[in-house]
Amino acid sequence: MKVAKHRCAGWRRGLGIGARLAIGVVGIMVLAGCEQAQVQSMLEAASADAAAVVDLWWLMFAMGLGVYVVVLGFMGFAMFRRWRDEDAEEASEEVEPPLGNTPFVLMGGAVIPALILTALLVFALETQVAVNRPQADFTIEVVGHQWWWEVNYPEHGITTANEIYIPVGERVQLELYAEDVIHSFWVPRLGGKRDLLPEHETTFWIEADEADVYRGQCAEYCGLQHTHMAFHVIAVPPDEFEQWLAERQGPPPQPASEEAERGRQIFMESTCVECHRIEGTLADSEIGPDLTHIGSRRTLGAGMIENNRGNLYGWIVNAQRIKPGNRMPPTSLEPDELHALVTYLESLE
Ligand code: CUA
Repeated sequence: MKVAKHRCAGWRRGLGIGARLAIGVVGIMVLAGCEQAQVQSMLEAASADAAAVVDLWWLMFAMGLGVYVVVLGFMGFAMFRRWRDEDAEEASEEVEPPLGNTPFVLMGGAVIPALILTALLVFALETQVAVNRPQADFTIEVVGHQWWWEVNYPEHGITTANEIYIPVGERVQLELYAEDVIHSFWVPRLGGKRDLLPEHETTFWIEADEADVYRGQCAEYCGLQHTHMAFHVIAVPPDEFEQWLAERQGPPPQPASEEAERGRQIFMESTCVECHRIEGTLADSEIGPDLTHIGSRRTLGAGMIENNRGNLYGWIVNAQRIKPGNRMPPTSLEPDELHALVTYLESLE
Protein backbone atom coordinates (compact mmCIF):
# COMPACT_ATOMS: atom_id res chain seq x y z
CA MET A 1 0.00 0.00 0.00
CA LYS A 2 2.65 2.49 1.12
CA VAL A 3 4.98 1.74 -1.78
CA ALA A 4 2.22 2.18 -4.36
CA LYS A 5 1.14 5.46 -2.80
CA HIS A 6 4.71 6.79 -2.87
CA ARG A 7 5.30 5.77 -6.45
CA CYS A 8 2.05 7.34 -7.61
CA ALA A 9 2.58 10.64 -5.82
CA GLY A 10 4.67 12.22 -8.61
CA TRP A 11 2.37 11.82 -11.56
CA ARG A 12 -0.80 12.19 -9.54
CA ARG A 13 0.11 15.73 -8.60
CA GLY A 14 0.37 16.57 -12.27
CA LEU A 15 -3.16 15.48 -13.06
CA GLY A 16 -6.17 17.76 -12.90
CA ILE A 17 -9.02 16.95 -10.56
CA GLY A 18 -11.28 16.19 -13.51
CA ALA A 19 -8.86 13.70 -15.03
CA ARG A 20 -8.36 11.96 -11.68
CA LEU A 21 -12.09 11.73 -11.13
CA ALA A 22 -12.57 10.31 -14.61
CA ILE A 23 -9.86 7.68 -14.04
CA GLY A 24 -11.43 6.78 -10.70
CA VAL A 25 -14.91 6.39 -12.13
CA VAL A 26 -13.73 4.34 -15.13
CA GLY A 27 -11.53 2.21 -12.82
CA ILE A 28 -14.42 1.43 -10.50
CA MET A 29 -16.67 0.57 -13.45
CA VAL A 30 -14.04 -1.72 -14.98
CA LEU A 31 -13.32 -3.49 -11.67
CA ALA A 32 -17.01 -3.84 -10.85
CA GLY A 33 -17.57 -5.21 -14.36
CA CYS A 34 -14.78 -7.77 -14.06
CA GLU A 35 -15.95 -9.14 -10.76
CA GLN A 36 -19.67 -9.24 -11.41
CA ALA A 37 -19.88 -9.93 -15.12
CA GLN A 38 -20.20 -13.69 -14.86
CA VAL A 39 -22.20 -13.67 -11.68
CA GLN A 40 -25.01 -11.17 -11.59
CA SER A 41 -24.48 -8.22 -13.90
CA MET A 42 -27.83 -6.78 -14.92
CA LEU A 43 -26.11 -5.54 -18.09
CA GLU A 44 -25.69 -9.14 -19.28
CA ALA A 45 -29.35 -9.75 -19.97
CA ALA A 46 -30.40 -13.34 -20.54
CA SER A 47 -34.08 -12.75 -21.29
CA ALA A 48 -36.27 -10.34 -23.24
CA ASP A 49 -37.52 -8.77 -19.99
CA ALA A 50 -34.00 -8.20 -18.72
CA ALA A 51 -33.01 -6.77 -22.11
CA ALA A 52 -35.86 -4.24 -21.86
CA VAL A 53 -34.57 -3.19 -18.42
CA VAL A 54 -31.04 -2.86 -19.79
CA ASP A 55 -32.27 -0.68 -22.68
CA LEU A 56 -33.98 1.61 -20.18
CA TRP A 57 -30.82 1.68 -18.06
CA TRP A 58 -28.65 2.75 -21.02
CA LEU A 59 -31.19 5.38 -22.05
CA MET A 60 -31.21 6.84 -18.53
CA PHE A 61 -27.43 6.66 -18.40
CA ALA A 62 -27.08 8.49 -21.74
CA MET A 63 -29.58 11.16 -20.77
CA GLY A 64 -27.97 11.63 -17.36
CA LEU A 65 -24.58 11.90 -19.00
CA GLY A 66 -25.92 14.43 -21.52
CA VAL A 67 -27.39 16.62 -18.77
CA TYR A 68 -24.15 16.35 -16.78
CA VAL A 69 -22.01 17.46 -19.73
CA VAL A 70 -24.31 20.39 -20.60
CA VAL A 71 -24.46 21.59 -16.98
CA LEU A 72 -20.67 21.36 -16.64
CA GLY A 73 -20.33 23.25 -19.93
CA PHE A 74 -22.51 26.10 -18.68
CA MET A 75 -20.64 26.13 -15.38
CA GLY A 76 -17.31 26.44 -17.19
CA PHE A 77 -18.73 29.15 -19.39
CA ALA A 78 -20.02 31.10 -16.36
CA MET A 79 -16.66 30.85 -14.60
CA PHE A 80 -14.79 31.96 -17.72
CA ARG A 81 -17.14 34.91 -18.27
CA ARG A 82 -16.80 35.96 -14.64
CA TRP A 83 -13.04 36.17 -15.03
CA ARG A 84 -13.43 38.22 -18.15
CA ASP A 85 -15.88 40.53 -16.34
CA GLU A 86 -13.42 40.97 -13.48
CA ASP A 87 -10.70 41.88 -15.97
CA ALA A 88 -13.05 44.48 -17.43
CA GLU A 89 -13.80 45.87 -13.96
CA GLU A 90 -10.10 46.22 -13.24
CA ALA A 91 -9.79 48.17 -16.45
CA SER A 92 -12.40 50.50 -14.78
CA GLU A 93 -15.01 49.90 -17.41
CA GLU A 94 -18.72 49.63 -16.66
CA VAL A 95 -19.86 46.01 -16.40
CA GLU A 96 -23.35 45.30 -17.58
CA PRO A 97 -25.43 43.60 -14.89
CA PRO A 98 -26.68 40.17 -15.93
CA LEU A 99 -30.16 41.25 -16.85
CA GLY A 100 -32.66 39.36 -18.90
CA ASN A 101 -31.73 35.88 -17.58
CA THR A 102 -35.21 34.91 -16.41
CA PRO A 103 -36.29 33.11 -19.62
CA PHE A 104 -33.05 31.09 -19.61
CA VAL A 105 -33.49 30.13 -15.97
CA LEU A 106 -37.08 29.09 -16.63
CA MET A 107 -36.07 27.13 -19.70
CA GLY A 108 -33.07 25.39 -18.14
CA GLY A 109 -34.54 24.94 -14.66
CA ALA A 110 -38.12 23.97 -15.42
CA VAL A 111 -39.09 23.41 -19.06
CA ILE A 112 -36.18 21.23 -20.21
CA PRO A 113 -36.09 19.07 -17.01
CA ALA A 114 -39.86 18.60 -17.26
CA LEU A 115 -39.53 17.45 -20.88
CA ILE A 116 -36.66 15.08 -20.09
CA LEU A 117 -38.41 13.59 -17.05
CA THR A 118 -41.66 13.16 -18.98
CA ALA A 119 -39.82 11.36 -21.79
CA LEU A 120 -38.12 9.07 -19.24
CA LEU A 121 -41.47 8.39 -17.55
CA VAL A 122 -42.95 7.32 -20.88
CA PHE A 123 -40.02 4.95 -21.56
CA ALA A 124 -40.15 3.59 -18.00
CA LEU A 125 -43.90 2.90 -18.22
CA GLU A 126 -43.39 1.26 -21.59
CA THR A 127 -40.72 -1.02 -20.09
CA GLN A 128 -42.97 -1.80 -17.15
CA VAL A 129 -45.79 -2.87 -19.44
CA ALA A 130 -43.39 -4.94 -21.55
CA VAL A 131 -41.98 -6.94 -18.61
CA ASN A 132 -45.26 -7.46 -16.75
CA ARG A 133 -46.88 -9.70 -19.33
CA PRO A 134 -49.15 -11.98 -17.31
CA GLN A 135 -48.64 -15.11 -19.38
CA ALA A 136 -46.84 -18.19 -18.17
CA ASP A 137 -46.36 -21.87 -18.83
CA PHE A 138 -46.57 -22.79 -15.14
CA THR A 139 -46.32 -21.36 -11.64
CA ILE A 140 -43.72 -21.56 -8.90
CA GLU A 141 -44.35 -20.26 -5.40
CA VAL A 142 -41.46 -18.50 -3.67
CA VAL A 143 -41.63 -17.67 0.03
CA GLY A 144 -39.12 -15.34 1.67
CA HIS A 145 -37.87 -16.24 5.13
CA GLN A 146 -35.19 -14.61 7.27
CA TRP A 147 -32.82 -15.53 5.51
CA TRP A 148 -33.58 -18.14 2.94
CA TRP A 149 -35.96 -18.89 0.09
CA GLU A 150 -38.63 -21.58 0.14
CA VAL A 151 -39.46 -22.77 -3.36
CA ASN A 152 -42.66 -24.72 -4.10
CA TYR A 153 -43.85 -26.25 -7.35
CA PRO A 154 -47.55 -26.55 -6.45
CA GLU A 155 -48.50 -28.22 -9.74
CA HIS A 156 -45.85 -30.90 -9.22
CA GLY A 157 -45.85 -31.29 -5.44
CA ILE A 158 -42.19 -30.36 -5.03
CA THR A 159 -40.67 -28.23 -2.28
CA THR A 160 -37.05 -27.15 -2.21
CA ALA A 161 -34.98 -24.21 -1.02
CA ASN A 162 -32.65 -21.55 -2.37
CA GLU A 163 -32.69 -22.82 -5.94
CA ILE A 164 -35.27 -22.55 -8.66
CA TYR A 165 -35.13 -24.91 -11.61
CA ILE A 166 -36.79 -23.62 -14.75
CA PRO A 167 -36.89 -24.85 -18.35
CA VAL A 168 -35.07 -22.68 -20.91
CA GLY A 169 -37.37 -20.59 -23.10
CA GLU A 170 -40.48 -21.04 -20.96
CA ARG A 171 -42.09 -18.18 -19.12
CA VAL A 172 -42.63 -19.00 -15.46
CA GLN A 173 -44.99 -17.18 -13.15
CA LEU A 174 -43.76 -16.62 -9.60
CA GLU A 175 -46.21 -16.20 -6.74
CA LEU A 176 -44.27 -14.36 -4.07
CA TYR A 177 -44.90 -13.73 -0.39
CA ALA A 178 -42.93 -13.34 2.81
CA GLU A 179 -43.21 -15.30 6.03
CA ASP A 180 -41.80 -12.55 8.27
CA VAL A 181 -40.52 -9.21 6.92
CA ILE A 182 -40.33 -7.68 3.44
CA HIS A 183 -37.81 -9.28 1.08
CA SER A 184 -37.19 -8.61 -2.60
CA PHE A 185 -36.68 -11.12 -5.40
CA TRP A 186 -33.96 -10.09 -7.84
CA VAL A 187 -32.09 -12.05 -10.48
CA PRO A 188 -30.24 -9.23 -12.29
CA ARG A 189 -29.65 -11.18 -15.51
CA LEU A 190 -33.29 -12.23 -15.79
CA GLY A 191 -35.09 -8.97 -15.08
CA GLY A 192 -36.19 -6.47 -12.47
CA LYS A 193 -37.12 -6.84 -8.82
CA ARG A 194 -40.31 -7.72 -7.03
CA ASP A 195 -40.97 -7.36 -3.31
CA LEU A 196 -42.18 -10.29 -1.20
CA LEU A 197 -44.65 -8.96 1.35
CA PRO A 198 -46.08 -10.59 4.47
CA GLU A 199 -49.81 -11.27 4.08
CA HIS A 200 -49.97 -10.05 0.52
CA GLU A 201 -49.05 -12.05 -2.54
CA THR A 202 -47.19 -10.42 -5.41
CA THR A 203 -46.63 -11.85 -8.88
CA PHE A 204 -43.59 -11.83 -11.12
CA TRP A 205 -42.44 -13.58 -14.27
CA ILE A 206 -39.07 -14.95 -15.27
CA GLU A 207 -37.74 -16.57 -18.39
CA ALA A 208 -34.21 -17.56 -19.44
CA ASP A 209 -33.02 -17.62 -23.05
CA GLU A 210 -30.08 -19.91 -22.39
CA ALA A 211 -29.16 -22.74 -20.04
CA ASP A 212 -27.10 -21.31 -17.22
CA VAL A 213 -26.98 -20.76 -13.47
CA TYR A 214 -28.22 -17.28 -12.60
CA ARG A 215 -27.45 -15.86 -9.20
CA GLY A 216 -30.22 -14.02 -7.40
CA GLN A 217 -30.14 -11.94 -4.28
CA CYS A 218 -32.58 -10.48 -1.78
CA ALA A 219 -32.71 -6.80 -2.68
CA GLU A 220 -34.57 -5.38 0.31
CA TYR A 221 -32.82 -5.01 3.65
CA CYS A 222 -34.37 -7.64 5.89
CA GLY A 223 -32.13 -7.94 8.92
CA LEU A 224 -28.73 -9.16 10.03
CA GLN A 225 -28.14 -11.68 7.23
CA HIS A 226 -29.79 -9.81 4.37
CA THR A 227 -26.49 -9.94 2.45
CA HIS A 228 -26.46 -13.73 2.76
CA MET A 229 -29.92 -14.29 1.36
CA ALA A 230 -28.95 -15.47 -2.09
CA PHE A 231 -30.33 -18.14 -4.41
CA HIS A 232 -29.79 -19.57 -7.87
CA VAL A 233 -32.09 -19.88 -10.82
CA ILE A 234 -30.95 -22.92 -12.77
CA ALA A 235 -32.23 -22.89 -16.34
CA VAL A 236 -31.97 -26.25 -18.08
CA PRO A 237 -33.25 -27.58 -21.43
CA PRO A 238 -36.93 -28.63 -21.23
CA ASP A 239 -36.23 -32.39 -21.35
CA GLU A 240 -33.69 -32.06 -18.55
CA PHE A 241 -36.26 -30.07 -16.58
CA GLU A 242 -38.84 -32.84 -17.00
CA GLN A 243 -36.25 -35.30 -15.74
CA TRP A 244 -35.53 -33.04 -12.75
CA LEU A 245 -39.25 -32.87 -11.93
CA ALA A 246 -39.57 -36.64 -12.11
CA GLU A 247 -36.57 -37.17 -9.83
CA ARG A 248 -37.78 -34.65 -7.26
CA GLN A 249 -41.35 -35.88 -7.06
CA GLY A 250 -42.02 -38.24 -4.22
CA PRO A 251 -39.85 -39.29 -1.29
CA PRO A 252 -36.07 -39.62 -1.50
CA PRO A 253 -34.45 -43.06 -1.85
CA GLN A 254 -34.28 -45.22 1.26
CA PRO A 255 -30.90 -45.24 3.06
CA ALA A 256 -28.63 -47.58 1.11
CA SER A 257 -26.02 -48.24 3.79
CA GLU A 258 -26.06 -49.11 7.46
CA GLU A 259 -24.46 -45.80 8.32
CA ALA A 260 -27.06 -43.83 6.36
CA GLU A 261 -29.83 -45.79 8.11
CA ARG A 262 -28.27 -44.96 11.47
CA GLY A 263 -28.09 -41.30 10.37
CA ARG A 264 -31.79 -41.42 9.54
CA GLN A 265 -32.58 -42.69 13.01
CA ILE A 266 -30.45 -39.98 14.62
CA PHE A 267 -32.23 -37.34 12.54
CA MET A 268 -35.67 -38.63 13.54
CA GLU A 269 -34.78 -38.84 17.23
CA SER A 270 -33.08 -35.45 17.47
CA THR A 271 -34.32 -31.88 17.43
CA CYS A 272 -33.88 -31.79 13.59
CA VAL A 273 -37.49 -32.93 13.16
CA GLU A 274 -38.80 -29.92 15.04
CA CYS A 275 -37.87 -27.62 12.16
CA HIS A 276 -37.33 -29.67 9.01
CA ARG A 277 -39.33 -31.83 6.69
CA ILE A 278 -38.23 -34.89 4.75
CA GLU A 279 -40.95 -36.37 2.60
CA GLY A 280 -42.03 -39.89 3.49
CA THR A 281 -40.71 -39.64 7.07
CA LEU A 282 -41.90 -38.42 10.46
CA ALA A 283 -40.10 -35.12 9.93
CA ASP A 284 -42.86 -32.78 8.86
CA SER A 285 -42.09 -29.29 10.14
CA GLU A 286 -41.98 -26.25 7.89
CA ILE A 287 -39.97 -23.86 10.08
CA GLY A 288 -36.66 -24.50 8.34
CA PRO A 289 -35.86 -25.52 4.75
CA ASP A 290 -37.33 -28.76 3.40
CA LEU A 291 -34.53 -31.34 3.34
CA THR A 292 -36.20 -33.95 1.12
CA HIS A 293 -33.53 -33.58 -1.57
CA ILE A 294 -30.85 -31.69 0.36
CA GLY A 295 -28.12 -33.93 -1.07
CA SER A 296 -28.73 -32.53 -4.55
CA ARG A 297 -28.59 -28.85 -3.62
CA ARG A 298 -25.69 -26.58 -4.53
CA THR A 299 -25.33 -24.48 -1.42
CA LEU A 300 -26.02 -24.34 2.29
CA GLY A 301 -27.28 -21.29 4.16
CA ALA A 302 -28.92 -19.66 1.09
CA GLY A 303 -25.93 -19.37 -1.19
CA MET A 304 -23.41 -18.89 1.61
CA ILE A 305 -21.27 -21.99 1.32
CA GLU A 306 -20.96 -24.86 -1.09
CA ASN A 307 -22.96 -27.94 -0.17
CA ASN A 308 -20.23 -30.50 0.50
CA ARG A 309 -19.50 -32.94 3.29
CA GLY A 310 -17.12 -30.67 5.22
CA ASN A 311 -19.43 -27.68 5.10
CA LEU A 312 -22.39 -29.84 6.09
CA TYR A 313 -20.49 -30.90 9.23
CA GLY A 314 -19.72 -27.27 10.05
CA TRP A 315 -23.28 -26.16 9.44
CA ILE A 316 -24.82 -28.89 11.63
CA VAL A 317 -22.34 -28.47 14.49
CA ASN A 318 -22.74 -24.71 14.70
CA ALA A 319 -24.52 -22.83 11.94
CA GLN A 320 -24.33 -19.71 14.10
CA ARG A 321 -20.61 -19.44 13.46
CA ILE A 322 -21.20 -19.47 9.72
CA LYS A 323 -24.36 -17.37 9.58
CA PRO A 324 -24.97 -15.63 12.92
CA GLY A 325 -28.58 -14.96 13.76
CA ASN A 326 -30.13 -17.70 11.64
CA ARG A 327 -32.64 -19.97 13.38
CA MET A 328 -30.59 -23.18 13.31
CA PRO A 329 -29.28 -23.92 16.83
CA PRO A 330 -25.91 -25.59 17.46
CA THR A 331 -26.01 -29.36 17.98
CA SER A 332 -24.08 -31.55 20.37
CA LEU A 333 -23.74 -34.87 18.60
CA GLU A 334 -20.95 -37.36 19.12
CA PRO A 335 -18.52 -37.52 16.16
CA ASP A 336 -19.77 -40.93 15.00
CA GLU A 337 -23.39 -39.73 15.20
CA LEU A 338 -22.43 -36.69 13.15
CA HIS A 339 -20.75 -38.90 10.51
CA ALA A 340 -23.89 -41.02 10.23
CA LEU A 341 -26.18 -37.98 10.07
CA VAL A 342 -24.15 -36.34 7.31
CA THR A 343 -24.04 -39.60 5.37
CA TYR A 344 -27.83 -39.80 5.56
CA LEU A 345 -28.34 -36.17 4.50
CA GLU A 346 -25.95 -36.57 1.58
CA SER A 347 -27.92 -39.59 0.40
CA LEU A 348 -31.11 -37.50 0.08
CA GLU A 349 -30.88 -36.73 -3.61
CU1 CUA B 1 -34.37 -10.89 2.57
CU2 CUA B 1 -33.00 -8.98 2.38
